[in-house]
Amino acid sequence: MSDEKSMTRREALKKMGVVAAGIGLGIGGVNAADVLGLSEKEEKHRKMKVLAINGSSRKDGNTADMLNLVLGELEKEGYETEHIQLAGNTINPCKACFACAGKKNCVFSDDIFQELYRKMTEADAIILGSSTYSADVSSTLKAVIERASVVSDTNPGMFRHKIGGAVAVARRAGVMNTIDTINHFFLNKEMFVAGSTYWNIVYGRLPGEAMKDEEGVANMKNLGQNIAWILNKIK
Ligand SMILES: Cc1cc2nc3c(=O)[nH]c(=O)nc-3n(C[C@H](O)[C@H](O)[C@H](O)COP(=O)(O)O)c2cc1C
Repeated sequence: MSDEKSMTRREALKKMGVVAAGIGLGIGGVNAADVLGLSEKEEKHRKMKVLAINGSSRKDGNTADMLNLVLGELEKEGYETEHIQLAGNTINPCKACFACAGKKNCVFSDDIFQELYRKMTEADAIILGSSTYSADVSSTLKAVIERASVVSDTNPGMFRHKIGGAVAVARRAGVMNTIDTINHFFLNKEMFVAGSTYWNIVYGRLPGEAMKDEEGVANMKNLGQNIAWILNKIK
């Protein structure tokens, strides 16, 4: 076995973090273990965490049902999960001030973004789910993506080697844009994207309807199993 293969994930991440180029800010790569300030032993025994963020404006609607299906599969495998529903919250857009450089979070604390971002950086897998609004993610989830993108651009490596999963729900159309918007975030942040069949999408309009989309439901369970498979490999 080569040295690379016999390295623990943490060692490999550290090595890559040193090599990874910053953007002139002198900041090396960081990962969940670093964010949590864990020793190598603690990291090895830490339960991996999966965070789902639900961008729908409707609490406990179709997107929530679908994210619960994905998380259910991960819970069966023993992973710690959390499902945050953004419904009822206003997330402000990025102000493009770049004051986050070197701070590892947004500097504005007038909404729940800082807490969300902290949880995202502590998670090993992030699932972003949204109902399709005007053929894309909800504006609430878009604001999260916008700000998280800038904070992690000015503090490189904060999402490096995490797993990403996209979930999109629609009544009829535009759902591919929803999936693409979410995957663009993951792929721009050095994350590994977990797939399913038919792009992790589900159809339904009124609350509970997506659960009747049998293929979509199977798709969600498969996505959860695929995320668990990757987590098992990289732990
Ligand atoms: C503001 C708004 C915009 C919507 N735009 C679309 C759309 O572009 N395409 C579509 O198929 N469904 C659209 N829908 C329907 C929702 O995507 C659909 O009802 C979904 O199941 C809602 O999920 P939820 O229960 O998690 O909120 C829209 C709904 C709302 C409230």
